[in-house]
Amino acid sequence: MKQIFTPASAGCETLPVAMLPAEASTPHRVGDVDAAGGERRQRKIEHRLINDHFQNYKRHALPKAQLVIADIPYNIGKNAYGSNPAWYEGGDSANGESKLANSEFFDTDKDFRISEFLHFCSKMLKPENKKETGTAPCMIVFCAFAQQMELIEKAKEHGLMNYINLVFTKNFSAQVLKANMRVVGNFEYGIILYRDKLPKFNNAGKMVFNAMEWPRDNESEKIHPTQKPVKLLQRLITLFTDPGEVVIDPCCGSGSTVIAASRCGRSGYGFEIKKDFHKAACGWMVREKQQLQLL
Ligand SMILES: C[S@@+](CC[C@H](N)C(=O)[O-])C[C@H]1O[C@@H](n2cnc3c(N)ncnc32)[C@H](O)[C@@H]1O
Repeated sequence: MKQIFTPASAGCETLPVAMLPAEASTPHRVGDVDAAGGERRQRKIEHRLINDHFQNYKRHALPKAQLVIADIPYNIGKNAYGSNPAWYEGGDSANGESKLANSEFFDTDKDFRISEFLHFCSKMLKPENKKETGTAPCMIVFCAFAQQMELIEKAKEHGLMNYINLVFTKNFSAQVLKANMRVVGNFEYGIILYRDKLPKFNNAGKMVFNAMEWPRDNESEKIHPTQKPVKLLQRLITLFTDPGEVVIDPCCGSGSTVIAASRCGRSGYGFEIKKDFHKAACGWMVREKQQLQLL
């Protein structure tokens, strides 16, 4: 079994673990129902970064999630920097190619197994309560445009029968090298997948459009080449979960989702197979917790 991040295993200070009383501000949603008598017990908020394949999830005995957020490998392979100035040294073709030319974003950006991923999600999402409305769990996948239909179709085989597509609009594009040749991309794509009932939705009475702004993230530590903005993750987490609930990211890279869950007062669990990303993510989490202690 690979390493699980805990402060002790990383040689770090103990992270503050908040105990949420079950009957805190959101009494019906925080805390687990005790199998014996329906009594609610205290559930701690915790944040764990696990250096393992998500396929090994059974080893880690995680609680079930209200929300799975996953930014899956886009299976781009060797042309990851194809339209990006990083292909050239200093972003200038006159300097010749950089070491990123003909390279992958990360060496796991190929052969991603969507069916295994959807199996994980169907097992780790909380079951739906058929008698309640407004409490159902859901998952959100960031994916390549071309992966959308495969995800939607295969999700049905795992009981995730419904979807809402998302687009995230950037006011910039990474495809700078093609800017004078063709239309360049400034969208990211995502899908909300859910079983039967509409997912919990904390919209505070406001309409939420499926084209969402992609905020630039200049504050976060830069760990992963395809790192997602923490503010966007926070927005999605607050929209689809309540404080104290569980968010899981099976492909967590930098740990950005777990950081976002922590900032929102949700438990967060992330899997990452690459040792270097996992180590850097642990470092970010430790610094995050240290900063919170200083406040
Ligand atoms: C697109 S990146 C995620 C980046 C992340 N959203 C962030 O903000 O940093 C996908 C990550 O999934 C990891 N990965 C791929 N297959 C995996 C698996 N089977 N189990 C766990 N992690 C996996 C890759 O190593 C990669 O770092």
